Amino acid sequence: MDLAQLTRDLEALVEETRAALAAAPDTAAVEALEVEVLGKKGRLTIVLRGIGQLPAEERPLVGAVANRVRGAIEGEIGARRTELGAAELESRLRAETTDVTTPGRPIRRGSLHPSIEAMAEIARIFGQFGFVVYESPEIEDDEHNFQMLNIPPDHPARDLWDTLYVDVPGHLLRTHTSPGQIHVMRTVKPPIRALLPGRCFRYEAIDASHGTEFFQVEGLMVDEGTTLGDLRGLLDEFAHAMFGAGKKTRFRPGYYPFTEPSVAFDVECLVCGGPGCPACKRTGWMTILGAGMVHPVVLRHGGLDPERYQGFAFGMGPERISMLRHRIHDLRLFLENDLRFLGQFR
Ligand code: DAH
Repeated sequence: MDLAQLTRDLEALVEETRAALAAAPDTAAVEALEVEVLGKKGRLTIVLRGIGQLPAEERPLVGAVANRVRGAIEGEIGARRTELGAAELESRLRAETTDVTTPGRPIRRGSLHPSIEAMAEIARIFGQFGFVVYESPEIEDDEHNFQMLNIPPDHPARDLWDTLYVDVPGHLLRTHTSPGQIHVMRTVKPPIRALLPGRCFRYEAIDASHGTEFFQVEGLMVDEGTTLGDLRGLLDEFAHAMFGAGKKTRFRPGYYPFTEPSVAFDVECLVCGGPGCPACKRTGWMTILGAGMVHPVVLRHGGLDPERYQGFAFGMGPERISMLRHRIHDLRLFLENDLRFLGQFR
């Protein structure tokens, strides 16, 4: 290795680098080239290792040449990088233009499920009469769901509630919200004005008016001197608030083991208003709930003295109320969660 050779090698490296830079398609290729030539294990570094073999007096000379070469290469790399970088920025800006006239994506607004909407409205109306909302368990025992409600084992009235049992003996999914009456009577002192909304479960064949899962809202009022007339007046107020002022209502005799007497509460047909139509099966009336005076046996199970306290109770299905209000013909819509259906309620 002599000085002339080293100088030639360095000049060749400058030439090669210049050609490679001219051919580099983008800034990434320039980066790679920079590493390849100037990097720690780069070609310039390797050439300069030859300096050690030169006589001492020649080394400063080569050092000066080497510095010039390094400076030249750095300059060329920098210039090419700037050039390519500007072109890349230009094309990116062109590709990223925003069309401010493009219509925005519509925001999907959530809405209340119609069962929930109906329950909120029921709670709002009864809230004006001082009724307070309570919760009671979805998994109940046989005592609360049946026995304390005056329905002993093997009582024929059990056929009214086809029951889903859980694998804990004596326990079941509540078939109605009425067991909540017992829980409230045992925890709240009269006067009681309680509303118990909640999910109920029955072993039913599913059709347009029966589901295995549905909601109920239970009402319970207990005080001294409570009468069937109080119940009638309250339910009238409710029907008028829910379905419209002046709607005709009526009591019909009914049967529930936990009330005596028991009634069905009807409102005039919301479709035909009286004369009869297919919606009301030509009766002119629609049943909206079951109710009655709390049976003395039930009051006693609730820890209350039936000689001193009387009460009334009622139970209604918010889905049914919603169906009547919105003219919905199939209960299954409430369970299918089809957004085209659900989106109609606010
Ligand atoms: N629990 C009854 C049912 O599921 C509805 C009911 C009727 C509730 C009369 C009551 C009532 O509180 O007094 O069919």
